[in-house]
Amino acid sequence: VLSRQVHLVAYPTGEIRADHFRVVEVETAAPGPGDVLVHNTWTSVDPGMRLRLAESAPAGYFAPFALRAPLDGIMTVGEVVESRADGFARGDLVWHAAGWREHAVVRAGEPALRGLGTLARIDGSVAPAQAYLGPLGGVGLTAYAGLLHAAELREGDVVWVSAAAGAVGSLAAQIAKLRGHRVIGSAGSPAKTAFLREELGLDAAFDYHDGSVEELLRAAAPDGIDVYFDNVGGEHLEAALGALRRGGRVALCGAVSAYDAAAAPSGPRNLFQATANDLTLRGFRGSSHVHRFPDLHRDMGAWLAAGLVKTRETVFEGLDRAPEALVRLLAGETVGKTLVRVGQRAP
Ligand SMILES: NC(=O)c1ccc[n+]([C@@H]2O[C@H](COP(=O)([O-])OP(=O)(O)OC[C@H]3O[C@@H](n4cnc5c(N)ncnc54)[C@H](OP(=O)(O)O)[C@@H]3O)[C@@H](O)[C@H]2O)c1
Repeated sequence: VLSRQVHLVAYPTGEIRADHFRVVEVETAAPGPGDVLVHNTWTSVDPGMRLRLAESAPAGYFAPFALRAPLDGIMTVGEVVESRADGFARGDLVWHAAGWREHAVVRAGEPALRGLGTLARIDGSVAPAQAYLGPLGGVGLTAYAGLLHAAELREGDVVWVSAAAGAVGSLAAQIAKLRGHRVIGSAGSPAKTAFLREELGLDAAFDYHDGSVEELLRAAAPDGIDVYFDNVGGEHLEAALGALRRGGRVALCGAVSAYDAAAAPSGPRNLFQATANDLTLRGFRGSSHVHRFPDLHRDMGAWLAAGLVKTRETVFEGLDRAPEALVRLLAGETVGKTLVRVGQRAP
């Protein structure tokens, strides 16, 4: 099959540009024994990819992307075109981790993305396929496990979620609302804060460009917060440390404000607040909670079916636009889950 895929041409320093990538057409090999050939239909765009567009990624994180090769380890859904593996048949809807390409030969049972991206069938009758890259996939798992397990959400907690109009943040904020919490969301534009208040029903929302994050948070939560779901790091994390009440908890999900930085940013200047107020700061990976997928699919499946969780998608049409989608995601120009629709071309 002649098929297109995105390659990385050079490791960017600072902000990435679409011309750091190239779309190339290659002949996809026929599947061998134990393989399936998948026609990808939707592929994910994630901020964490920025950390892998470098010669070395943070220790313990996913490996860097290789140059002049298809980017390995990006969640994708598609349809099986040909199967030479037990348990998979032509026409099956699947997810796997060989994204940013039109077709992929995937080895059944081979672990990918710490188990998150191992080839598996998905149920298209529960939700459209791309929901398995959002609320029913790693993004949903990250929000769900981060809030309930890393932050150990407890009754009465006041919760702040940063990057709350994004894929993970919008889900974490809504799960906290469904559990009856007061939830504050922050994001980078007036349109996004309106979305948080009006569509997601958050109790308060602020645009972090409108002043110091510390002051904006104090205005939204004058009595302080108990849980901070951190997607941003930097000044946001410092503001949280200053606002967390005794016994408060931080789920360190990501630090997108620093992903483009050429040099490692300094740590929070007020870390001593963790000692002063018996705080817990816990980093976590969604991929360490793969065993919770059945719980997520039960709960999130029910919430989606009942219309209790709302999902937004920003869709870029065609694989050619995948690099642009990543650039615009990191620039804060997308809302909800950022996706590329790869196209309906069948081989
Ligand atoms: N721990 C895990 O296993 C795991 C898994 C998935 C994702 N994550 C992390 O979760 C976070 C959210 O990921 P996502 O996939 O849901 O992406 P997303 O929130 O949909 O997109 C990233 C958002 O980050 C915001 N942003 C960018 N630069 C910023 C800055 N300098 N300051 C403040 N906000 C900035 C932008 O929104 P604004 O317009 O609001 O600025 C942008 O929309 C990221 O940190 C990601 O790395 C962690």
